[in-house]
Amino acid sequence: MGFLSPFTSVPLLRSKVILRPSTPHDLDQLITNINSIAAEQIYLQTTTFTSDAVWDAAIREGDNPRTGQLVLLPIVNDKAIGYLRIFPGNYGERNRHVGSIGLGLLPEYRGKGIGSSLMSHALQWAPSAGFEKLEAQIIATNYPSRRLFAKFNFVVEGLRRCQLKIRDELVDELVVALLLRSEASFHCLKSFQNLTLEGV
Ligand SMILES: CC(C)(COP(=O)(O)OP(=O)(O)OC[C@H]1O[C@@H](n2cnc3c(N)ncnc32)[C@H](O)[C@@H]1OP(=O)(O)O)[C@@H](O)C(=O)NCCC(=O)NCCS
Repeated sequence: MGFLSPFTSVPLLRSKVILRPSTPHDLDQLITNINSIAAEQIYLQTTTFTSDAVWDAAIREGDNPRTGQLVLLPIVNDKAIGYLRIFPGNYGERNRHVGSIGLGLLPEYRGKGIGSSLMSHALQWAPSAGFEKLEAQIIATNYPSRRLFAKFNFVVEGLRRCQLKIRDELVDELVVALLLRSEASFHCLKSFQNLTLEGV
């Protein structure tokens, strides 16, 4: 178990919302929730939950700062009503310091501050798990998600034009990111102005 207290209570709804890391028992509910949000078509890149070794390990462990995996669940009446996950970059040590973040809530629980609460906990946890940067990919038409990430000071690092096809329409995807240390300590940073392949 890592940095997060397993039972963080958030008094947001009439019924209490508890935030806790996932356990193996949450697997079925988590898959149901992700598939249900994916079925809305407009919010997630995936159309259906696909299990892989990273997800399996992350769900099993819930909160593992050593590997940089987090699956944090908001629980209402003993039932998971969404998720937030962070996975480390998949180029090994080259981008282990970059956490990829994704989250979603069932429709009736949106717009009540639960996403903000999940994000606050994730941002507290991330440095303790060795992350120096967090990133996310957002469907450009997903304004609630854009608002949430903007609220936590993420900035747009890229726009992938016509990257996704949703109901036969091509839609852009935003790449957003947050540096977890002061910008001055990142010597790699270059200006985005006039960025070209020929030279920066
Ligand atoms: C995106 C999502 C996780 C946000 O969580 P949430 O609990 O609804 O967000 P919050 O209530 O904490 O609100 C966060 C900010 O977004 C704004 N916001 C929330 N819903 C909004 C909406 N429908 N339209 C415009 N702004 C919205 C809030 O006003 C708030 O900003 P503020 O505090 O400055 O007022 C949630 O809406 C969701 O699950 N959406 C579907 C799945 C999804 O899009 N996942 C993200 C994929 S990248």
